Amino acid sequence: MDSSRVSLRTFKLSDVDDFLEWASDDQVTQFLLKWKVFTSRDEALNFIKDICIPHPCCRSICLDDRSIGFISITPSFGDDKCRADIGYAIATKYWGQGIAAIAVKMALASGFKDFHDVVRLQAKTDLENKASQRVLEKAGFFKEGMLRKYCFHRGQIRDLVIYSFLVTETVLN
Ligand SMILES: CC(C)(COP(=O)(O)OP(=O)(O)OC[C@H]1O[C@@H](n2cnc3c(N)ncnc32)[C@H](O)[C@@H]1OP(=O)(O)O)[C@@H](O)C(=O)NCCC(=O)NCCS
Repeated sequence: MDSSRVSLRTFKLSDVDDFLEWASDDQVTQFLLKWKVFTSRDEALNFIKDICIPHPCCRSICLDDRSIGFISITPSFGDDKCRADIGYAIATKYWGQGIAAIAVKMALASGFKDFHDVVRLQAKTDLENKASQRVLEKAGFFKEGMLRKYCFHRGQIRDLVIYSFLVTETVLN
């Protein structure tokens, strides 16, 4: 994949149909923790308007400026403000082309610039989600270990793997 075809930008309301393509696809959402199940186009529009656009760092992953997924960085507060969580997803027909790894690398650079208190980006991924673990490894994240029986997801208690990337590990430093 030519990385110049991949970009991150704020969502637009006109992305709604592209958004629904992945956001309502069980293959994509099966590993997205706390993900809302969308049942209508209006719900998706409201979600883009009320959650994605005002979010400090929720970006549409675009291929040739067409929205094909999302990536978000969510900083913690108070004594935890030194860290932020990263999450992402891509529509299935674009899987396996290296797009997520490119998007994560782009988000890393901007995440540390945008959030001055954040020195640690972390990602928690389901133990069975091998593609996501590979994405994080390709982007240079460090695998810290397993979070055993960490949370409920779709009625089952899941084991997660936690990864981190520190600001001191960016090429900018
Ligand atoms: C995870 C996800 C974002 C990856 O997107 P993508 O654009 O296909 O990712 P990339 O092409 O950059 O990399 C995927 C890597 O995983 C590997 N992979 C895919 N399935 C795999 C599996 N079952 N076992 C091991 N490796 C696997 C691919 O071979 C590739 O590695 P490579 O480049 O070394 O060959 C995409 O599958 C997705 O949207 N999944 C659902 C949402 C999700 O899980 N989000 C993350 C929540 S933590």
